[in-house]
Amino acid sequence: MANWHFWGEKQFSDVYENIYIRTSMEDWFGIVDVLAKEISGAKSIIDIGCGEGHTTKQILDRLKNDDYACDLLEPNKNALLNAEAFLSPENNIGKCYVSTLANFDSNKKYDTVFTSHTNYYWALNQKDFDDQLEKILGLVKPKGKLLILTLPEDSDHYNIAVRQIYPEFNYSEYILDYYKKSGYVANIKKFDMKMYVGDILSTKKRYDLKNFFKFIHNMDTYPTDGEADLFLERIRRFQKNNYLNFKDHLIIIEQK
Ligand SMILES: C[S@@+](CC[C@H](N)C(=O)[O-])C[C@H]1O[C@@H](n2cnc3c(N)ncnc32)[C@H](O)[C@@H]1O
Repeated sequence: MANWHFWGEKQFSDVYENIYIRTSMEDWFGIVDVLAKEISGAKSIIDIGCGEGHTTKQILDRLKNDDYACDLLEPNKNALLNAEAFLSPENNIGKCYVSTLANFDSNKKYDTVFTSHTNYYWALNQKDFDDQLEKILGLVKPKGKLLILTLPEDSDHYNIAVRQIYPEFNYSEYILDYYKKSGYVANIKKFDMKMYVGDILSTKKRYDLKNFFKFIHNMDTYPTDGEADLFLERIRRFQKNNYLNFKDHLIIIEQK
């Protein structure tokens, strides 16, 4: 399992172990299918923040055309190496860049640029975040498409957190509004993304609860018992039939 360097000074290990098994596969593959439909037909593609390439592969495997090349950008060098090795046998992978979005130095323009759940790590303040919204759209060819998958404000991911995790400009609503205000045609597709928490609610043991806490709060250390109690109370409050709904929004922006 990789260590994740989301910000220069922070490192998170093993935070994804429990999240993929929690996601409802029907929900997630519904999202993947829509992404694949939106990207289908594009010849030049880049995935910004591909991680180890699992989502990338789910999408590329479902494209209708094979005559594409997908570049990969990822700041975590080991994750990018794993992604390249994992994807290359079955997918058309182009260039691989070890870089953050902010530091990406390229004049190349793409038919489609996509990014899945990476915007939280782009910037620490609104001005820098807006710069990244400009930067990522600047990678798109005229009449091409930018796809940003991210969470809405009312996601249970945010509802169950015991403190604000990411600044509010990360919400899908802010991103959509930003592009619309700048005069772009921007649309949103809204999805359910349910997460099973029945295992956590059916035991008094704290191991899974505390791991889930780490994932939700982007922490590499375990919470105190007091924090874990508060977190459990929030999970109880927001769950329905043992599921939370993180929801997911796909923002689609057309380049001018
Ligand atoms: C939650 S993971 C999502 C991975 C993958 N896109 C997916 O959906 O499965 C966030 C990814 O964003 C990457 N990342 C962190 N900071 C970034 C930045 N400034 N620019 C681009 N990617 C970044 C991380 O290294 C990590 O791979």
